[in-house]
Amino acid sequence: MDSSLVLAPMAGISDLPFRMINRSFGCGLAFTEMISAKSLINNSRKTLRMISVMPDDRPLGLQILGYDPETISRAMDFVSQYPFDLIDFNAACPVNKVVSKIEGAGLLREPDRFQELLTVIVRNTNLPVTVKIRSGWDQTSLNAVEIALRAQDAGVKALTIHGRTRMQGYSGTVDYNIIREVKAAVQIPVIASGDAFSPQLIKKMFCETGCDGVAIARGSLGNPWIFREASGYLRDGTVPSRPKVREVGDVMRRHLSMLAEYRGEKSAVIVFRKFFSWYTKGMAVKEFKRKAFRAEDIEGMTALIEDVEGCMAADTPVEATVV
Ligand SMILES: Cc1cc2nc3c(=O)[nH]c(=O)nc-3n(C[C@H](O)[C@H](O)[C@H](O)COP(=O)(O)O)c2cc1C
Repeated sequence: MDSSLVLAPMAGISDLPFRMINRSFGCGLAFTEMISAKSLINNSRKTLRMISVMPDDRPLGLQILGYDPETISRAMDFVSQYPFDLIDFNAACPVNKVVSKIEGAGLLREPDRFQELLTVIVRNTNLPVTVKIRSGWDQTSLNAVEIALRAQDAGVKALTIHGRTRMQGYSGTVDYNIIREVKAAVQIPVIASGDAFSPQLIKKMFCETGCDGVAIARGSLGNPWIFREASGYLRDGTVPSRPKVREVGDVMRRHLSMLAEYRGEKSAVIVFRKFFSWYTKGMAVKEFKRKAFRAEDIEGMTALIEDVEGCMAADTPVEATVV
């Protein structure tokens, strides 16, 4: 396991089966998707499922989102009974619904509040606290260095920085310079995020920024092999061969079966529809993808996986593609 390769949190994606599939290819640390402090104290069934863990699903960070110190401290109390390895605070989410409540990346514009919330979290948990930030709100307010120093002062043990501004969302390319500046300014470990789409780009991130770890997000969708490949490339400069169609089919079946166990058949099939499309990206199987979006049960989805295998030679290597 290469502990410098991290599975980045992704809302609607980073559930237990997704994490376990990526762990089986060498991902070190993983995170839950962001969960609001408010929903944690409301104890809803959906939230309880989001925070369910398995003994092998470690080390695992719980990522929380919030603006109100009282709610956050109650949420810390609630999660203390769960076996997380760290608490990660989200100050990076760019979506309107979140930043309009001054949560997520909205906090980059309120450094005092940001620091206060981290201080509250550190005070109310025995676990190490980490934080995820962006380079700033927009190009005219690149304050990641100030924000990172404030996080460090609050007692945060490591930080992840996505090298884009809130206003950029996911557009444009990652800014290596700001990540390098943050790394040079703080004493705590820095995990870099942004455009970790291939072993080469991951190595570039380490070289350009001096970061301690790289978080992989979109590059892992339907492509857990990226952990094996990046790890090999970082070790000796060679990229292990791409998976063959047969191996992709096996991983798809394993993922689907874990989803079924975790969510029940109906919901598993719905969640797996997008994964079907990601796993088969770059393959000439358009018709099967279309059918997968209408599949209603495990049997139907499994038959489609077999159709993919049947129409391509089992030992065809699958090209790496960016989702
Ligand atoms: C669908 C999706 C959901 C995301 N959800 C979260 C989230 O819940 N928490 C978070 O900190 N970042 C979230 N992110 C941001 C990623 O963790 C990552 O920082 C970003 O995608 C840049 O990395 P990449 O270019 O390798 O994809 C999300 C990204 C995507 C694409």
